[in-house]
Amino acid sequence: MRSHPDRCWMPPPVATFTAPITGRMLNRVIVYLLASGFVLMVLWRCSETANAPQEAQNITPLTHSWEFAIPHQEIPKGLTSLSAASCGACHVQHYEEWRTSTHAHAWTDLQFQAELKKESSPLMCINCHIPLQNQQEYIVSGLINGDIYRPVKEKNPHFDRALQQEGINCASCHVRGGAVLGPNGTDRAPHRTVKDTEHLSEKLCISCHNANAVITPTLACTFETGDEWKAGPFFGQKNCISCHMVETQREAVAGFGQRKSRFHTFAGSGIPKVKGAEAPMLNGLAFYPGKVRASYATGEQLTYTFKVKNEHAGHRVPTGDPERFFIITFELLNAADSVVLRQQERIGEEWEWYPEAKKLSDNNLDPGEERAYHFNALLGKKGNYTLRIEVTKHRMTQSTAEYNGLGDDYPLFIPIYENVMTVKVRE
Ligand code: HEC
Ligand code: HEC
Ligand code: HEC
Ligand code: HEC
Ligand code: HEC
Repeated sequence: MRSHPDRCWMPPPVATFTAPITGRMLNRVIVYLLASGFVLMVLWRCSETANAPQEAQNITPLTHSWEFAIPHQEIPKGLTSLSAASCGACHVQHYEEWRTSTHAHAWTDLQFQAELKKESSPLMCINCHIPLQNQQEYIVSGLINGDIYRPVKEKNPHFDRALQQEGINCASCHVRGGAVLGPNGTDRAPHRTVKDTEHLSEKLCISCHNANAVITPTLACTFETGDEWKAGPFFGQKNCISCHMVETQREAVAGFGQRKSRFHTFAGSGIPKVKGAEAPMLNGLAFYPGKVRASYATGEQLTYTFKVKNEHAGHRVPTGDPERFFIITFELLNAADSVVLRQQERIGEEWEWYPEAKKLSDNNLDPGEERAYHFNALLGKKGNYTLRIEVTKHRMTQSTAEYNGLGDDYPLFIPIYENVMTVKVRE
C-alpha cells in the first residue's frame, strides 16, 4: 500500500495554486495542481486539531491487517534491550548481515521518509516499515468515521526512538510474548527462547510482502509477491526463506558450535539505498545472447535475437513495488564509437494514478517465462561496427526521484549485464 499518486506518475506539476480555505468545517481542502494540460488532484489536509467538527463522529475499528502494529513487546527475560544492536553483541554475523539489508533501511530510507511526509500518506504506512508498537510514536485504536486520514491516536508511553531507526529489526521477526522465537527453541541461550516454526515461515514474509486492495481511489496496494509465488512453479519446492535466507552451517554465537543457520542479508534487487553501498543481490534473470555472423554484406538487414528468462525467482520479475523496471538497450556503434541505432525495451508495469489508480500495462516476467527481443538494423555502409547490449535494473525513474527530492546521490539503477560484439560489414 503506497501513496503511488505522489511517486509513480509522470513529470512534476508545472504550475500550482492553492485554493483558499472556504469553511472552518472543512477538514480537507482540495488543491488543484495543473500538470501538463490536465488537472491533478491532491488531497490537502488541515492540521488535526483545527476546527471542532460539527459532524457526528463514529469511531470505527481497524479492520485490515496493515492497520495494526505488532502489539507492545516486553524485553525477553535474560536481555536488556529489543534493539538489533544489542542482539548483535552476541549474534555478530547475523547483525552485520542484517545491517546491509533493505529491512534495516525500511524507516531511514530517503524515499520512504519523503513519502511519509506527504499528506496523502496515511499513518498506517508505518506498520510494515516499523512494525512493532514499541517503534511507533502513537497508538492508533480506530478511525474517525472510517477515514484512514483521521486516526484516533494517543501518545505511546513506551515509544523508543532508537528502535524506530532500525526499521524491520531482529525483534520484529523474533520477539513475541516475552520470548525469542527460534527454529529450535534452544535451551543454551541466555534469553528465553521458544520454538515456533509456524511463525518463522514464509507466512511471516507474506504478512508484509502481499497486500492487494484499493484504499482510496488514488491509493492502491499492489504487493503480490506471495500470490505470485503461490501461483508459480516453485510453490511446494522453494519458499521465501529458502531463496532469500540461504542455508549454511555456522555458529549462531561464537563458541557455541556449528549449527544449521541462515544468512540474514535478505538479498533482493541489489539496488542500494545509499550511494556507494553494496546491496545484497539475487539475480532472477538469465540472458541468452544470440550470435552475429562473421560478416554481413552492405545493405543487408541485421536481425539479432536476445532472450531473457526469469530462471531463478520464485515470483514475477520485477515483483512487489510497481515502480521497478528493467531496461534492455541495444546499440549499434560505428568505428568512431558513435551510435548509429539505439533500441530500448522495458520490463515492468505502467500505472496511471489520477483520477484513480489504474494499471495500464504489465509485462513482468512470470517465473520460468522466457521472452525473445529482436534488434533490427539496416547495415547501410561498409565498416566495423559494434553491437552492444546492456541490461539495467531500476528502482524508479529519474523524474520520480526528482519529484521526491531524493538528490543526486540516491542510487536509481544498477547495470546487471553487458555484451559487446563486433559486426563486420563488407562491400
Ligand atoms: C503491507 C505492508 C506495507 C505497507 C502497509 C506499506 N508498505 Fe511500503 N513496502 C512494503 C514492502 C514489502 C516493500 C518492498 C517491496 C519490494 O521491494 O518488492 C515496501 C517498499 C516501500 C518503499 C521503497 C520503494 C523502493 O523504491 O524501494 C517505499 C518508499 C514505501 N514502501 C512507502 C510506503 C508508503 C508511503 C506506505 C503507505 C502509503 C507504505 N509503504 C505502506 C510493505 C508495505
Ligand atoms: C548475551 C548473548 C545473546 C544476546 C544479547 C542475544 N542472544 Fe540470541 N542466542 C544466544 C545464544 C548463546 C544462543 C544459542 C546459540 C546456539 O544454540 O547455537 C542464542 C540463540 C538465539 C536464537 C536461536 C534460537 C533457536 O531456536 O535455536 C535466536 C533466533 C536468537 N538467539 C535471537 C536473538 C535476538 C533476536 C536477540 C536480541 C533481541 C538475541 N538473540 C540476543 C545469545 C544471545
Ligand atoms: C514487517 C514487514 C516485513 C516482513 C515480516 C518481511 N519484510 Fe521484507 N521488506 C519489507 C519492507 C517494508 C521492505 C522494503 C524496505 C525499503 O525498501 O525501504 C522489504 C524488503 C525486502 C527485500 C528487498 C527488496 C529489494 O528491493 O531489494 C527482500 C528480498 C525481502 N524484503 C524479503 C523478505 C523475506 C524473505 C521475509 C521473510 C523472512 C521478509 N522480507 C519479511 C517488509 C517486511
Ligand atoms: C526460487 C527462489 C525464490 C523464491 C521462492 C522467492 N524469491 Fe524473491 N527473489 C528471488 C530472486 C532471484 C530475486 C531477484 C529478482 C531480480 O531482480 O532479478 C528475488 C527478488 C525479490 C524481491 C525484490 C524485488 C524485486 O523486484 O527485485 C523481493 C521483495 C522478494 N524477492 C520477496 C520474496 C518473497 C516475499 C517470497 C516468498 C513469497 C519470495 N521472494 C520467494 C528468488 C526467490
Ligand atoms: C524478516 C525477519 C527476520 C529478521 C529481521 C531477522 N530474522 Fe533471524 N530468522 C528469521 C527466520 C525466518 C529464521 C528461521 C529460519 C529457519 O527456519 O531456519 C531466523 C533464524 C535466526 C537464528 C537461528 C540461526 C539461523 O541463522 O538460522 C538466529 C540466531 C537469528 N535468526 C538471529 C537474528 C538476529 C540477531 C537478527 C537481527 C540482527 C535477526 N535474526 C533478524 C527471520 C528474521
